[in-house]
Amino acid sequence: MEEIKQIIATCIYDTLDNENITLEDIKLKIEVPKDKQNGDFAYPCFNLAKSLRKSPVNIAEDIKSKIKLDDKIEKVEVVNGFLNFYLNDLDVVNKVLKEILNKKEEYGKTDIGKGINIIVEYSSPNIAKPFHLGHFRNTVLGKALYDLYKVQGYNVTSINHLGDWGRQFGLLIEGYKRFKDEYDMNDNALKALSDIYTRINKLSKEDDSIMDIARDNFKKLEQGDKQLLELWQSFRDLSLKEYDRIYKILGCNFDSYNGEAFYNDKMQEVIDILDKKGVLKDSQGAKVVEVGNNMPPCIVLKSNGSTIYATRDLAAILYRARTYDFTKCIYVTATEQILHFKQIFEVAKYLVDEKYQKGLVHVAYGMIRLKTGKMSTRDGNVIYINDLINDAIKKSKDIMLNKNQNIENIDLLSKQIGIGALVFNYLKSGKNKDIIFDLDETLRFDGETGPYIQYTYVRAKSLLERAKFNIEDVKIDRLNLDLLTQAQEVQLIKELEKLTSIIKKASDEYEPSILARYLIDVATSFSKFYNECSVINVEDDELKDARCALVYATSVVIKNGLKILGIDCPDKM
Ligand code: ARG
Repeated sequence: MEEIKQIIATCIYDTLDNENITLEDIKLKIEVPKDKQNGDFAYPCFNLAKSLRKSPVNIAEDIKSKIKLDDKIEKVEVVNGFLNFYLNDLDVVNKVLKEILNKKEEYGKTDIGKGINIIVEYSSPNIAKPFHLGHFRNTVLGKALYDLYKVQGYNVTSINHLGDWGRQFGLLIEGYKRFKDEYDMNDNALKALSDIYTRINKLSKEDDSIMDIARDNFKKLEQGDKQLLELWQSFRDLSLKEYDRIYKILGCNFDSYNGEAFYNDKMQEVIDILDKKGVLKDSQGAKVVEVGNNMPPCIVLKSNGSTIYATRDLAAILYRARTYDFTKCIYVTATEQILHFKQIFEVAKYLVDEKYQKGLVHVAYGMIRLKTGKMSTRDGNVIYINDLINDAIKKSKDIMLNKNQNIENIDLLSKQIGIGALVFNYLKSGKNKDIIFDLDETLRFDGETGPYIQYTYVRAKSLLERAKFNIEDVKIDRLNLDLLTQAQEVQLIKELEKLTSIIKKASDEYEPSILARYLIDVATSFSKFYNECSVINVEDDELKDARCALVYATSVVIKNGLKILGIDCPDKM
């Protein structure tokens, strides 16, 4: 790095004839552009503007016209007063490969987010209800966003904003009292609770008095009735216990489970602030805040005086700004909530500093449909996520056993493959796209699937094993990587080089699919390389080692990339 900066600085220095400018000054100001499209190194010419009494753009153009490029540099371009330097393939090859070989698990990580606080709020299911495909997509997406920020050194807080408050719990409590003896809460409690809810909800439509009791129950809950709160707490605990199974499988950890209930005693302050600022308006008995002409006003208090979902979200914004001092607070939910978030983000103007309000981000994802029929939470045609996970694991087990009866660790492997397939399937599509879910397609070992990427990793590993190449025994500096000059080799290395910038792009755009699709590209490039270049049957030992190093580097990039997406790499397939 220092060496190449020295070379670039010298090239620039030689075009200048000014005693106020030293070679060292130039070298110190050479940067590595965040975006690789702007070259491998860049020199900002405004540093010379004072001494040369010219505009940075003119200086850059002038230097470019005079510069004699060293062999290591392929080209230089002028962009907005910057000189962008692009290195020669061969040097890129050397630099990138060595970096990967040295950094291993750390390759791809940066610290560009150091000291910056980010909240990723995701999953957020509604307690006492089963976790459905939509929440699964949410969880997978949120977890990937979390890890994308994490590997860039951001200080990330994950919040599960549980749907654990609202009038429905008044109703559920009544249902529970009536029907609890018919159920075993130790066995699939979520199914039992949602069943109870469906039954009592139906009854309440025929019998008005049930609705009155429900209302009363919730009022008592809000006021802190001990007995009812205990019951509510047990629903919450039972639900979390079941969600936790899924979170474990996906490797999610939440720093906070402060859901809607947490804000029960924090909403009055919001109302007071809005009232004091004079933005709380009466509208048919309800209290609302106008949020511009393109949207209906945001309801903060209903006509009966009770708070709603939006009120709790407003309290959460205030609380999070104070508690986490966030630069960004990201909310992952389905597209149905776009209007809700637009409204509360507008109202947030009156509650928090502009810097917080500007940091509120809604990441919306599209619907999931099953290939056969549609997915719904209300009409009983529910796909339970546990069933789906079990199906995926079982199917991958069958596929594996079909290929090899005696495969070891089949349970672990089929778990890694089955879950990896589901997760990858959710992440490879852009978040806005609806997904039509088809388990068989998801589990294919070829095509744009999780198993295909995992298989590429396994193939790389087994190649290295057969070649008896063990990175721990290799003197990295002694590798002759200059031998990797074939088009497919260079192409693959250039692909591997992109990991860091892909990670940044994926988080900038809140789009883990960018990383997922990148891994497909890496796997494809690897295939092309492998078809054209022998790794095992190579006469020249130096070339063999260099190619093995490339294979190893590919395995590192795939493993690190999949890890960010929440997918394990199996040892065998
Ligand atoms: N519990 C809601 C649902 O399942 C999602 C909550 C989203 N987050 C929020 N802060 N409103 O639809």
